[in-house]
Amino acid sequence: MSKVRHIGILTGGGDCPGLNAVIRAITKSATMQYGIEVIGFMDGFRGLVENSYMALDPRLVSGISHTGGTILGTSNRDNPFSFVTITQEGHLQTDESDRAIGNLRNLGLDGLIVIGGDGTLNIASQFYQKGIPVVGVPKTIDNDLSATDVTFGFNTAVNTASDALDRLHTTAESHHRVMILEVMGRYSGWIALHAGISGSADVILIPEIPFSVDAILKKIAERYRQGKKFSIIVIAEGAFPVGGEMVVSNYVPTSHDPIRLGGIGEKVAEDLGKVLRNVEIRVTVLGHLQRGGSPIPYDRILGTRYGVAAVQAFVRGEYGSMVSLQGAEIKSVPIADAIKEIRKVDPNGDLVAAARGVGVSFGDDI
Ligand code: F6P
Repeated sequence: MSKVRHIGILTGGGDCPGLNAVIRAITKSATMQYGIEVIGFMDGFRGLVENSYMALDPRLVSGISHTGGTILGTSNRDNPFSFVTITQEGHLQTDESDRAIGNLRNLGLDGLIVIGGDGTLNIASQFYQKGIPVVGVPKTIDNDLSATDVTFGFNTAVNTASDALDRLHTTAESHHRVMILEVMGRYSGWIALHAGISGSADVILIPEIPFSVDAILKKIAERYRQGKKFSIIVIAEGAFPVGGEMVVSNYVPTSHDPIRLGGIGEKVAEDLGKVLRNVEIRVTVLGHLQRGGSPIPYDRILGTRYGVAAVQAFVRGEYGSMVSLQGAEIKSVPIADAIKEIRKVDPNGDLVAAARGVGVSFGDDI
């Protein structure tokens, strides 16, 4: 039996398919394999600050692995180190980390397993530096965390985007249109690249490779000459033209990263439309459809592996670490390594080369 008796868990940041599979795996493994009691804080770090939680047990988490969202709720705005309270005068920002630590101690918790992306794991790392035993689990549809090959949720998002491209293909072909699909991913192009290859896009635009509208036009013209009167463009929300900037849709001032991207698809449609006067162009923004719904089996399995491995790492005393997929194996890495920089697509890597090999344009070949 483990010396660890009682742990808290929370899900932070934007939600993502597979969170419930992780919650289930942590709860079942901790309780059944090690006799550890588990509580779940509600709505990310807000629950830790406000002492809002629920007791988790194997019965309660039974049958949730295939469900989307998180039974604990989440938030991508609540940071205990800079906690926002709404007052009549506006926002009040205070450091509530000691209050959160007090709650952990009063509940008799041995530490925390934190499931999140870079923002959430940054906060987890600050708690670790204040002496709280913490283990992290890498979550995000963006797949942009360093020190892991894959975050859970990413492949479900790719599945959704790839399915959208399949659907756009048939209607694009019927109407001889240019169809643009804007996908999420923040500052990296993983979703666009994977979905674009899987969904046979003609043009893939990602933040790692600034594009030119002329190069996109060249690709569309080349397809016309081959008798292909339609074209499919997948564009990451963070993509931008050579010498230009990302398109910001709004700001969430209380968020770890306040910038929300969106709108580049419309911008490219407008620019193409100035030249392609006789071709109809339509834009679909996939948005939060990529985050919602049931995780595909890959993410249920990865989430289960991560959850069980996180409990093992905690029991072994590997505090300040994050479970990570490396090749076929789950390993432990320092959280600090995962959050030091965003993981980006390598413009000279295999995936981009494979896409170029089948004729995909990245908007840079003029
Ligand atoms: O990080 C996940 C993500 O879905 C990004 O791809 C996207 O840019 C952002 O979150 C959207 O955040 P929100 O849910 O606050 O609109």
